[in-house]
Parts: sequence; structure tokens; C-alpha cells
Amino acid sequence: MRSVNSVIVVASLVICLGVAATAQSPISAPQSRDAGAQALVNPATEKKIDALLAQMTLEEKVGQLNQYSSPFDVTGPAPGQGARKIAYEQIRAGLVGSMLNVNGAEATRKAQQLAVENSRLRIPLIFGHDVIHGYKTIFPIPLGEAASWDPAAVERSARVAATEASAAGIHWTFGPMVDIARDARWGRIMEGSGEDPFLGSQMAAARVRGFQGKDLAALDTIAACAKHYAAYGFAEAGRDYNTVDISENTLRNVVLPPFKAAADAGAATFMNSFNEIGGIPTTGSSHLQRDILKGEWGFKGFIVSDWGSIGEMVRHGYSADMAEAARQAMTAGSDMDMEARAYIGHLAALVKSGKVDVKLVDEAVRRVLRVKFALGLFDDPYRYSDAAREKAATLTPANLAAARDAARKSIVLLKNDGVLPLDKQVRSIAVIGPLADDKDSPLGNWRGQGAANSAVSLLEGVKAAVSPGTKVLYAEGAKLVTGPRNFGAPSVFNTTDRSGFPAAVEAARAADVVLLAIGEDAFQTGEGRSQADIGLKGPQDELFRAVIEANKKVVVVLMNGRPLTIGHVAEAVPALVETWFLGSESGHAIADVLFGDYNPSGKLPASFPRLVGQLPLYYNHKSTGRPGPEPGVTWSHYTDVSNDPLYPFGFGLSYTTFTYSEPKLSTPEIDANGQLQVTVTVTNSGQRAGAEIVQLYVRDLVGSVTRPVKELKGFQRIELAPGQARDVTFTITPADLAFYTARGRWEAEPGAFKVFVGGNSRDVKEASFTLR
Ligand code: BGC
Repeated sequence: MRSVNSVIVVASLVICLGVAATAQSPISAPQSRDAGAQALVNPATEKKIDALLAQMTLEEKVGQLNQYSSPFDVTGPAPGQGARKIAYEQIRAGLVGSMLNVNGAEATRKAQQLAVENSRLRIPLIFGHDVIHGYKTIFPIPLGEAASWDPAAVERSARVAATEASAAGIHWTFGPMVDIARDARWGRIMEGSGEDPFLGSQMAAARVRGFQGKDLAALDTIAACAKHYAAYGFAEAGRDYNTVDISENTLRNVVLPPFKAAADAGAATFMNSFNEIGGIPTTGSSHLQRDILKGEWGFKGFIVSDWGSIGEMVRHGYSADMAEAARQAMTAGSDMDMEARAYIGHLAALVKSGKVDVKLVDEAVRRVLRVKFALGLFDDPYRYSDAAREKAATLTPANLAAARDAARKSIVLLKNDGVLPLDKQVRSIAVIGPLADDKDSPLGNWRGQGAANSAVSLLEGVKAAVSPGTKVLYAEGAKLVTGPRNFGAPSVFNTTDRSGFPAAVEAARAADVVLLAIGEDAFQTGEGRSQADIGLKGPQDELFRAVIEANKKVVVVLMNGRPLTIGHVAEAVPALVETWFLGSESGHAIADVLFGDYNPSGKLPASFPRLVGQLPLYYNHKSTGRPGPEPGVTWSHYTDVSNDPLYPFGFGLSYTTFTYSEPKLSTPEIDANGQLQVTVTVTNSGQRAGAEIVQLYVRDLVGSVTRPVKELKGFQRIELAPGQARDVTFTITPADLAFYTARGRWEAEPGAFKVFVGGNSRDVKEASFTLR
């Protein structure tokens, strides 16, 4: 039976079109103003801020711009000496505006007490923390969640995180991380949504909505922070903190869209980044902070520096000393100083000597106070620190169920020769590998307050899923090469220990089917964890070969925080499942997919390279003047490996199959006020019900600046019963075709376009249209 359902997707942010354009002139599509952050501004609050500013000394103003990491056990006795004592005294004196890493209702309450019961003006502290993919209930790492292509699920996960964190007295998360990442060597690729600006924008907005809810003053919402502004993911050679040198074209068209989306969704704060762009550290960049964010986008919240990034301008060679760094950062629009102590040390003197206009300080303080007012902290500074609510709201069955659901949706089936899904009645199953019974790595890096070793391991998930008669064998096989556990830890623990191989081989031989869990340790990705080799580390490759030798029926379950070079594994095994680091419910979610209780629908948010030397690798690249392929060598390629990725962006299989019709366009031509419908019929041509992410891409054939060969412009998740077909319709308007042109404007340029529809960025069907 053929059921037809039409679904309209508006393929991008709704952007108001400007005045109708003449025949061939660009069509102005100004980017919308920041609707959300405007909500921070209301006349009554601004009056209260005026009154406060009028009472504040210069030192107290600077204090509001000063943020420390929890320097002492706030619930213990006052520290006796050193930096800790100074911080403690500064809080009491009203010289600290914010703290990070104070956790728990009791600790935040105590720290708040220090500020509001001792400081002259009783201005409450704002407590920040890295709530990146969960607070106590841990969700999949953001890269994994992006693989769900499900903004509603991502919003729900941020909502749960906010509910738990807010009850523990956290007011503000340093998330979402919205950096576009095209280089899997970069360890922080795990924290973002991958390589695509459109998918990244959808995820950014969803997370902001989830963290902030409808009202920042609600007790279960926290302020969001879009980071790292900007282009931190473009570090040369994927090496963290490294130099970035990108054009304004790439900045505007690739890097900034997710930040813009976060601002439009109302993100109350932004964080700048450690890197420079073209010689200017972003912390000192007026162009980014004042011109674009606060100017063009009308952002009304505040910008926090990244950890010590104001001070690092000295080491960049941009500032002669800390005082100059403070002056440059303040002038450029960095409002709050995280841990460089540059503002508290120098800003008052800079104002007194006339080097910094006090108006800049006032403006920065106003922005910080705005967010504190919006959170309701002036009504009751303790309102979020609620031990009873903390207990009741944390790690609840509902939160864990949401984490399991998000985890299942994040799993990407990369290969399946028919071995999956497994039968729960299987006689025997061997669960092998260093990650097979690992209860810690699935929590990933940046795991909030998730307790160590608290995830459901794969082995536990399998045992809970199989029939009582199934024999489950387990062998660790090899140890993982572990990443540094914390920022102070030595780089990497290496291992070549093969003593576990015989037991692994024996288990593989004895079982009907093998699950081999390999990949990365949780701390091999994340900040400071860039790697030049993104293959399987330690003896994992050898283990894999030994196991497959013993039993061909091997399902490889990958756990990792970045795309890995696993082409040889993919070739050798009948099934390969990408599970990222899935969080608290990892093992259950993986078992749901392996045993067919959940039909996988995840799609890759980042290309998987064949070789590390292909990096940076991304589907939305430019054509170049020699795109090829051509006979001979004089085209843009490698002579030793194809240009293609192992798995392209948007790729992911299901236990069923989907077929796509040729796309039909409602019109071959649109004008400045027009719109175009692209309709494709998607049919479930397999035997099982399943969900498909239908993807829409566009190519602008000629531009005033060159345009990518494909750009994602829309996607939709549909569920189809076996044999069922559905028409999926996308609407394209000129606003969706707009980009930052050679004229330095956000506008669409008339001309010929191609449109592509398919289940990933490679396997698509195409049609053409013209924008008049
Ligand atoms: C990271 C930020 C983080 C901050 C506070 C920095 O090292 O770059 O992403 O929010 O620390 O923990």
C-alpha cells in the first residue's frame, strides 16, 4: 500500500527579504537581528542597572568582569594564605563577578553567601560550569548527538542537563560548542556538531533552546554560551590552540552561521577562543566581537574570555604585557575575564590613566548584570541552589530514559552484510575488546559531573538484552592506550601488552558471533587531545586480526570521539557500528540497536577519511580549477589515495532500505519573492519499519566568490513502514540561497542552481533551477 504524506520543510532560518531586486542584481537577504538576546533587554531592568552602576566604584565594576575557577573548598574553612586567600577575600569585597567549577547546591549556596552577605552592594555571583553533554545523567558526546540529525532530541538532552545543573546551583553552561570542525585530528571535534554549517546551526539553536528554555528566570533553565568565537576548529594541522588563517569568506559562510543561529536562538553569552585569525587573537578582535556580534547581530548578552585567553595575547606576541592585553581585550569587546586576572589586575588603573574609557567598562558590566537579572539572581541569589531539588531532579528514570533514547538515535550503522540485527536467542556471543566492559569511556570527555565508571557497559547491555539461554563470553583482549585524565596529566599512556590475546581468541572461537568493542579511550579526544594518527591505537589492530582469524562473524562496535581511519577494519568485517561515546545508557542503547529493538537511523556529521593525510576533509569543498578526474596527473588529487572519504558526510545505513525518486520541482525558475518546492518520493523498499533522514543539498553554479560543490540546506526525519512511500517536500526561498558575497553582504545571487536529494551527501538525485 502506498501512503502519501506531504511534509513541508522550510529549509533554513526565515530571513526577511529586502526590496525586490532588478533582473540580475543580487537579492538582498539581510541576516535577521538577534531576536533572542533582545529579550535580555527591558526598560525596567536597564533602569535598575543604571541605578547600580551609579553606586559602584570603579573597582567594583571591574570585579563584575572578573571570573575565577573555584579556588578552594567553599564549604570548608577560609583558606589561610596565597592566591586562594586572595580570591576568598576578593569575593567578600565584591571584586569577583563569577565563578566556575563550584558544584552542588550546598557549595554554590556557601559561595554565594560569601558574596551577598559580605560585599557592599550584595551583587550575586553567577556560577558557570561546562555542562556539555549532561550534568550527572550523561548524554552522547555532542558529535554523536549531531549524528541523530534530530534537533528535538538534542533540545531535550540540553533540557535535561539544564534541569539537573540548575538544581545544583549552576546558572550558566559553557555550551553549546558550535565550532565547525573539518579535521579529525583536532581533539575537540567531539564537542561540536561536525563539519557542516547548516546541521551545526540546527544543533546550536536546539541546544540553546534546551538550556535556556522559554524563560531564563525559570528555576530549571540556565544561560547558554556559544563557543569558541571564532574559528577555533580551524587550527592548522588540527593541533589544538594552533594558528588559524582563514578568509573573511570562510569565516562568514562556514564558521559563523552556527554562532549566528545560537545568537538568534537567544544565547545569553558567548565565549571567545584561544586562537588568532590572520594575526589577531580573537580575544583582541574588535571585528568579531564589536563589529559582527554586538554590532551587526545586535547581541545584548556578554562575552566571556576563554580560560586565560586575555593573558595569552602576551604569548601570541600581540600584547607587550598583561596591562596591554587587558586594554586590548576590553577595547575589542571581551566583557569578562576568565582566569587571566588581567582585568582585576589592570583595568582600574587603565581607566584612571585614560587608556581605557570607563564607558567601555560600564557597558561590559551592564551586559553581565543583564544576564544576572534575567536569571532572577537579584530576586533571590540562592534560588537555584536547592539541595532537595538537586536530589529529586538528578539521575531520574525519566532522565536516563531520555539519555537512552538520544544514544540510540546517535548510533550510525556503517556496514552490514546481513549479520545484524542479532537474534536474542543466539546460543553464544563473545563480547571482546578493551571497550567491551568499559564503564567509563562511554561517558566521553567533558562529562560534567557524571560519576566515573557510571555508564552501562556494552557487556552489561548485552547481558540484559539476550535470552536466558544465551551464553555470554567476555574477554578484554587488550588494554586501551589511554588519554590524559586531566589537564595536568602526562600526555598518553601507551601499551603493547598482548597477554590478553589468547583468552580473546578462545572466546571468539567458542562463540556463534563476536562483538568486538574497539576505538578510543574517552580522554583521547577533547581539549588538548589532538592526534596526528587517528587509527586504532596500541595493540587493537592486532587484536582485531587475531579475533577475525578465529571467527569471521565479527561485529565491530566502535567507540570514539572523532572519525577514525578504519578502512581495513570495515573491509574485513561483516558489520561495523559507530557508537561514539554514548553516555550513561551506552550499553543498553547499543544492545537496542544490535538486537533490532531499535532500527538505526543516525547519519555521520563528519566525513570519515581513508587516510589521515586527506585531512582536512569535508563534503562541501570547492570545485578548484582542476576538479577532475582526468587522465594523467594534472588535476587536484592524491596519487596514492582517492579524494573520496571512506564514509561521506550524511552517511548511515538502516536495517531496511530506502529508495528515492527523481526530485520534482514546482517551477524551474524563481524570482526574488518566489519560492520553489522540491519533492521526492521516498520508499521503504526493505522488510522493516525504519527512519530515514532525507537530505537536501544545493549548488550555486557561479558566484561572485566561488561556492561549494554541495551545501546542505534542509533535512527531514521520516518514519516508514515496509513498502510505505512518502512524498517529502522542501521549500527553497532566495533567503536559503543567500551567502556572504564579494560585495560583503548576505545576499542571493541570480543564476543557475543544482539541487540534490538523497540519504547522504554522495548518493543523491539532482535537478536544476534558476534564480532570476
Ligand atoms: C575551554 C573552554 C571551557 C573553559 C572552562 C577552557 O580551557 O577551552 O571550552 O569552557 O576551559 O572550563
